[in-house]
Amino acid sequence: MPPSTTALFLLLLLLSSFLSLSTPSSNNDNNPRTFIVQVQPDSKPSIFPTHKLWYESSLSSITTPTTTTSSILHTYETVFHGFSAKLSPTDAIRLQTLPHVLAVFPDRLRHLHTTRSPQFLGLKTTDSAGLLKESDFGSDLVIGVIDTGIWPERQSFHDRDLAPVPAKWRGACTSSPDFPSGSCNRKLIGARFFCDGYEATNGRMNQTTEFRSPRDSDGHGTHTASIAAGRYVFPASTLGYARGVAAGMAPKARLATYKVCWNAGCYDSDILAAFDAAVSDGVDVISLSVGGVVVPYYLDAIAIGSFGAMERGVFVSASAGNGGPGGLTVTNVAPWVTTVGAGTIDRDFPADVKLGNGKVISGVSVYGGPGLAPGKLYPIVYAGSSEGGGGDGYSSSLCLDGSLDPKLVGGKIVLCDRGINSRAAKGEVVKKAGGVGMILANGVFDGEGLVADCHVLPATAVGAAGGDEIRRYISAEAKAKSLPTATIVFRGTKVDVKPAPVVASFSARGPNPESPEILKPDVIAPGLNILAAWPDKVGPSGIPNDKRRTEFNILSGTSMACPHVSGLAALLKAAHPEWSPAAIRSALMTTAYTVDNRGETMLDESTGNASTVLDFGAGHVHPQKAMDPGLIYDLTAFDYMDFLCNSNYTLNNIRVVSRKTADCSGAKRAGHAGNLNYPSLSAVFQQYGKHKMSTHFIRTVTNVGDPNSVYKVTVKPPGGGIQVTVQPEKLVFRRVGQKLNFLVRVEAMAVKLASGGSSTKSGSIIWSDGKHTVTSPIVVTMQQPI
Ligand SMILES: *[C@@H]1O[C@H](CO)[C@@H](O)[C@H](O)[C@H]1NC(C)=O
Ligand SMILES: *[C@@H]1O[C@H](CO)[C@@H](O)[C@H](O)[C@H]1NC(C)=O
Ligand SMILES: *[C@@H]1O[C@H](CO)[C@@H](O)[C@H](O)[C@H]1NC(C)=O
Repeated sequence: MPPSTTALFLLLLLLSSFLSLSTPSSNNDNNPRTFIVQVQPDSKPSIFPTHKLWYESSLSSITTPTTTTSSILHTYETVFHGFSAKLSPTDAIRLQTLPHVLAVFPDRLRHLHTTRSPQFLGLKTTDSAGLLKESDFGSDLVIGVIDTGIWPERQSFHDRDLAPVPAKWRGACTSSPDFPSGSCNRKLIGARFFCDGYEATNGRMNQTTEFRSPRDSDGHGTHTASIAAGRYVFPASTLGYARGVAAGMAPKARLATYKVCWNAGCYDSDILAAFDAAVSDGVDVISLSVGGVVVPYYLDAIAIGSFGAMERGVFVSASAGNGGPGGLTVTNVAPWVTTVGAGTIDRDFPADVKLGNGKVISGVSVYGGPGLAPGKLYPIVYAGSSEGGGGDGYSSSLCLDGSLDPKLVGGKIVLCDRGINSRAAKGEVVKKAGGVGMILANGVFDGEGLVADCHVLPATAVGAAGGDEIRRYISAEAKAKSLPTATIVFRGTKVDVKPAPVVASFSARGPNPESPEILKPDVIAPGLNILAAWPDKVGPSGIPNDKRRTEFNILSGTSMACPHVSGLAALLKAAHPEWSPAAIRSALMTTAYTVDNRGETMLDESTGNASTVLDFGAGHVHPQKAMDPGLIYDLTAFDYMDFLCNSNYTLNNIRVVSRKTADCSGAKRAGHAGNLNYPSLSAVFQQYGKHKMSTHFIRTVTNVGDPNSVYKVTVKPPGGGIQVTVQPEKLVFRRVGQKLNFLVRVEAMAVKLASGGSSTKSGSIIWSDGKHTVTSPIVVTMQQPI
């Protein structure tokens, strides 16, 4: 099949955008870079004994004499067919013209989306009928974590009382001097690393700063792996905070680590190799707390790798990203991926600022060293003022390295603004300049969301409004020619906090930038101030000079939310081995809740106002209910291909993602992209003039509850005069596994909107048999064309 001209055009477009980025005078335009190449799998001539030899021969047939080496970095054979190689852009275009080459796309750099949570989720070990018991704690299920590697010696990864490694396992434990062969056990059953793509761009890594092995020199991978499947460890805490038992979601599930993220980030060519290996090794779940910009699925290695995984029955959960609270920030949005946003749990680490005028401003911190003298007030200074930084206002307000004048800040508490350098790094800058404490204030974009950090000096974080109040106090005192003072009162760990959960400020939000017909994120899970295992290589603040060492650390991010769902998926799969990845996601979504522990709609941490479906998707996961959802919305690889047809992807684009030839004529008859049998519904109307608009959805539910059951529908309309009707209103099931269809019709009148503006309303469709409640959010978006 000849490469489609649109794909070639897109490639040229992408390349020209690369080229325009480089400096105009340079002749680097044709410098080799990494490309991922998809090849038609069944067309290998028999004279080549292996695919790799065939790929090498294809490469040498097109490379120009000026190209010295075009070495193959990875070959892919399970979730994708092809290879990655370092090539000049002109060679990449030439390669695209070979008849057996389906697609060539550039490598991309991704970044990490940087314990009380099992109890908060209602997972109690004493509950004999609970999900943990039913699933035997996830024993025999394997979770593959694609991340920064692992610190295998942590207690969270011990293998006491675990059965032998599951017979189906085909994985490996890659050893090296810093990851000896005994590093794996019956808990950590696989460990691999992928750095050829990384080194092709960055050169050989510096082995004094990172381990060229599955060992974790960052902490992120150890943390996420132990959230998904850490064993029970008691006592666990970080510097005295969050004391108690630490446990992952699926304490007996097996772990396999696939290290793809290095000091400079994670490359698509390595991520795709990790997907390929994980699926071929036999994992049941893939957990991926990594992301980047949203691109069409046929250019997105995470979307392509996940499709191949889904097809083999592997559940993929991915973090939504930390780009919140703005709209359209959600990433990892492919409909065959479960996209996870972050919420708070009912635990907090209050550390309040007390000003000289008696005002108290609430903050949070997990600073664990010697505190400030009790009852004593210290001089306070704003780093961005002339009394504080001395340097230029901007870099000193942010407490960037070298921006503070020790003569001005010595012996004082310093107020720094968030941004540019890491929160903990600012603490180190203040400490180096002789400050005694630090207050970290959010900017307007951060709003009121607070993240607790293991600072290297007494420090706390306050919201944007609190920061304004402190700055006002400091300048008022200065005007009155008196000395502004303050202290920080560390109040330890507080539990049963209300309200909880609250959608975390940073959690990335919908609408879905690539497929507005699919609501993303799918769900939220705990992602704020999560206690989990931590390596010895790094201090808890993550900054190089932090010499403290802790078995556990407290981190925040959708990176921490994603592995909660990965662990839950393993428990659900253990309890229901026949469930597809879509069935597992459906169970999590239709049983999710949207009210907090006060019984009111979950709040959005960034505003303090009620949150919406664009923030939390179907809601916050509820594991116990997900075990027995009653009905599920199932999906196969062919349904997703129909979705791609209806999203106007070309046959060649669809083939890049699915490795199959789609029949789009059939799919088009079936309707529109929103007709994918997804557990949430999203109608998008373009308003052309003032008139009535309507659309419909067909959904199919499968009975996984009681054989004889009758479900009745309740519609919570989205308001704004939008009508939602469901037919039939009653579904009568006679057996388990039976599928029944229903039709949802949405009718809306155009609303007054500015050019380019949009309005979103949401409601829900609830099926109930008196025992199960199966809830789907329905979102209606009106867009005014420009
Ligand atoms: C590796 O990193 C260390 C520590 O930053 C540095 O001292 C050393 O010079 C680096 N080595 C190379 C080869 O770049
Ligand atoms: C929060 O709610 C208040 C009161 O309804 C409203 O005035 C304000 O605009 C809302 N803030 C945001 C950011 O939506
Ligand atoms: C696909 O193209 C058709 C015809 O141009 C258009 O009506 C439809 O909205 C497009 N669908 C998507 C999802 O872009």
